[in-house]
Parts: sequence; C-alpha cells; structure tokens
Amino acid sequence: MQKKLFKAQKRRPETQMDKILRQRGERQRLTIQTERTLLFIKPGGVMRGLIGEIISRIEKKGLTIKAMKLLKLNKAEAERFYDVHRDKPFFNDLVEHVTSGPILTMVVEGPQAIQVVRSLIGKTSSFEAESGTIRGDFGISITKNIVHASDSMENAEKEISFFFKKTEILRFEKPTEKKFAF
Ligand code: CMP
Repeated sequence: MQKKLFKAQKRRPETQMDKILRQRGERQRLTIQTERTLLFIKPGGVMRGLIGEIISRIEKKGLTIKAMKLLKLNKAEAERFYDVHRDKPFFNDLVEHVTSGPILTMVVEGPQAIQVVRSLIGKTSSFEAESGTIRGDFGISITKNIVHASDSMENAEKEISFFFKKTEILRFEKPTEKKFAF
C-alpha cells in the first residue's frame, strides 16, 4: 500500500509537468495564427513554365493550397483588382501585363501564411528581391515580377473573395500538418 502511494506520488510531478507543457503548447498555438492568403502567378510566370517550381516552393515550406484556378483576367477585372494603384505611373503597364495571358490564382493556408508567403516571394522589385526568393530567383522586372501575394489580413480577405466563392475553398488537413504543426 505504502509502496503504491509512493509510486503515485513520484508519478505526480511528471503528470503536472505534462499538463503545463500541454498548456504552453496551446498558448503557442493560439498566438501563431493560421491564416489564408491569396497568391497568383502572373502571365510571365505561367508562360515561362514556372508553375511547378512555384507550387513546389509553397508545398515544401509546409503551406497548403486550399483552392486554385487558371484564368485570364480582362482589362476591367485587372483594373478593379489593382484599383489602389490606379493613379500610379505604372498602372497601365501593370494591367497590360496581368491581362497578357493566363494567371494561376490560389488560396494558400498555413501558420502566419500572409507574412510567410511574402517572405517566400521576396521584395516587389525583382532587382531588389533576394536570391532564394521567387522574385529574386526568377524575376527581372518590377511589373513582370512573377507573382502577386496579399500584403495584409484585410487585403487577403478582399483578394481571396475577388477570385473565389467561399464554397470553392476546401476544408481539409494534410496528415503532415497535424504531425509537424508548430
Ligand atoms: P504586385 O505584388 O502584383 O502588386 C502591385 C504591382 O505593381 C507590383 O506587384 C508590381 O508588379 C507593380 N509595381 C509596383 N511598384 C512598381 C513600380 N515602381 N514600377 C512598376 N511597377 C510597379
């Protein structure tokens, strides 16, 4: 009897520690938010055959593609999408480029996906984007900078709804997401 009690007491600190660790894990999970962002491969990227390369980088990073469409924007759609840049000197060139061929647009999900995807693609100007980023490795222009990705939570929501209905964004979890999550 004494022996059993002693054993139980010895076990207790471990159990409490487990609980604390579990709680810490929960807290960490709450602060690292799962986000959705919009990324599209511009006509330059599609025409140069970079779709596989770009998707591969997104997948290897551990992000998940939850929706995807290959489409061609018309002038009015492109002008509406880039409305905030309407008064900028590069606006016409930008609209001309994104309407020049197909784009591959997708919803990307994962922990802090907005910031993570922005880091993956690199700076807006391909000249300044660091090697190792999508724009740094494949871009050679500012307008033809291979990809676009949302820069804030607010814009991600707007841009996702520009291309996708809620029902087109799939809900699923890859087995690896569970196993390797934060
Ligand atoms: P994107 O991420 O699609 O968002 C707006 C786009 O405008 C940007 O990528 C570039 O392609 C383009 N852009 C931004 N700044 C400039 C600039 N100074 N000159 C030309 N194009 C620009």
